[in-house]
Amino acid sequence: IPSILDVDVKGKRLLVRADLNVPMEDGRVTDATRITRFADGMKPLLARGARLVIITHFGRPKPNVMDPAYSVDKLRPALAEALDVPVRFSDTCATDAAVILSESLKDGQALLCENLRYNPGETANDPGFAAALARLGDLYVNDAFSCAHRAHASTEGVAHLMPAYAGPLLLEEIDALTAALEAPKKPAVAIVGGSKVSTKIAVLKNLVGKLDHVIIGGGMANTFLFAQGAPMGRSLHEADQVDTVREITQLAAQSGCRIHLPVDVVAAWDFAPHARNTVVAGDACPEDAMILDAGPKALAEFQSVLADCATILWNGPLGAFEMKPFDQSTMLLAQTAADLTREGHAVSVAGGGDTVAALNAAHVADDFTYVSTAGGAFLEWLEGRTLPGIAALERAAKAA
Ligand code: 3PG
Repeated sequence: IPSILDVDVKGKRLLVRADLNVPMEDGRVTDATRITRFADGMKPLLARGARLVIITHFGRPKPNVMDPAYSVDKLRPALAEALDVPVRFSDTCATDAAVILSESLKDGQALLCENLRYNPGETANDPGFAAALARLGDLYVNDAFSCAHRAHASTEGVAHLMPAYAGPLLLEEIDALTAALEAPKKPAVAIVGGSKVSTKIAVLKNLVGKLDHVIIGGGMANTFLFAQGAPMGRSLHEADQVDTVREITQLAAQSGCRIHLPVDVVAAWDFAPHARNTVVAGDACPEDAMILDAGPKALAEFQSVLADCATILWNGPLGAFEMKPFDQSTMLLAQTAADLTREGHAVSVAGGGDTVAALNAAHVADDFTYVSTAGGAFLEWLEGRTLPGIAALERAAKAA
């Protein structure tokens, strides 16, 4: 796929799809990895006189409801600091006003446009919305590997409407993942957790066929435990995924992949830091409580699985890692993975906004073989699926 680094960008408006979907708390960015990694790739382009029009989504707002909680304006200070230039803001992303702002940019300047997902055309990959986005730049740059599994207007549709290139971070991600995982050493384990159950669970159908072990945590583990008949109390789980869980369990049994669920869990009576909590068996969550972490026995089992593996893949925390003490099993398992990597026992690759935040909080991100900014996209890439965002760049290159 063609790289924007090979193009003379001076004076050109680059319509750059970034993924600035970063963890935030009380209006503050709590982990800026996605912003800094993106900015590091963009700085040389700014220095060469590019004019950046940056588009991104943030969270999953209801389209057409301009809920200020999802405004990307609050990302501007962190982005400006990382890019080392002031960043202007357009409160729309596909209007004449945004086009005028983009045309007022000078060489080396940057503009950030409001959350793409305020507009229903984004996730629907609406051609009209893609065409409106295309007016914001002379060249399109996809630098959001972590969104490449989404066929949205800003990741797919727009790539067919203007000269399209891969950005530096997207290229780095593909190169690094290929180098680390092209021929993964066995046994291989994937740790899959987090709260985005329905958008990730299907990936497990393919992954169990390729791996020796899958450790399941977070809302994903609750959904598996629920499918086995465990009471969930007020725990996050997706009851309509029971059939998918059964299918995955069968596929895993056929291919000899072992699925590890938490044998014990930390159940709390409030979704709050230091909430009253207790350790119970995985199938014994009290009716009025919610599972917020894996328990100590589960952690010990997960640690011994990792110790037997030569490849460790990780996407999604094991619990509500952003709140103490429910970060325990995620932190300790991260340390185990880091130790095994440092000692040369395993290659470890982790990905996803929350996972990266957890590794940073545990101060072990630098010990991993590679840390990807991508979560869902990383899992789909692992499956060997064609990612729509990458396929669009390939097709655009062939058509050019
Ligand atoms: C991510 O956080 O994995 C990406 O930003 C994609 O977000 P999405 O799952 O809401 O599409």
